[in-house]
Amino acid sequence: MLNERMQQAVNEQINAELYSAYLYASMAAFYTSINLPGFANWMRVQVQEEMLHATYMYDFISERGGRVQLMSIAGPPVEWPDPAQPFKDAYAHELEVTRRINELMNLAQELRDHATASFLLWFVNEQVEEEANADKVVKQLHLTGNVGSGLFMVDRELALRVFTPPTVLPAGVGA
Ligand code: FEO
Repeated sequence: MLNERMQQAVNEQINAELYSAYLYASMAAFYTSINLPGFANWMRVQVQEEMLHATYMYDFISERGGRVQLMSIAGPPVEWPDPAQPFKDAYAHELEVTRRINELMNLAQELRDHATASFLLWFVNEQVEEEANADKVVKQLHLTGNVGSGLFMVDRELALRVFTPPTVLPAGVGA
């Protein structure tokens, strides 16, 4: 059985993950509009990652006999001043998600909810990769200085990203 406070906090994180998907979908649309399809592809893969994160949390609440409660999703930004800014924002966003996941883990520990702490450990580890993935592109874009030829090279590389479902699932989520 899931503690009421824990359930509320995981429900709020489902909302945050769905907002992340919404944010990255908006960034993908921006990149499509400025003719950078590889950048758009990277963001669309990220949308799939975020949807999966939300789904894991959704399934976990159900698995623990809790109640999923979906909330309104805030509207994301739709315009950015230059091609590098969405990735800078994505990196900042992932830092905020990490902070939120850590808060969830703190709550699970405070409540001595070991099953939820075990579930959340997957997300703690995942955030290391989430931050690194965005930061890598921010650094590449810094080197290009937003110059056309450099942008097209990065675009070609980002076009190669494919969504790969994780082989190891969070504890408590069925295969
Ligand atoms: Fe669901 Fe990008 O963290």
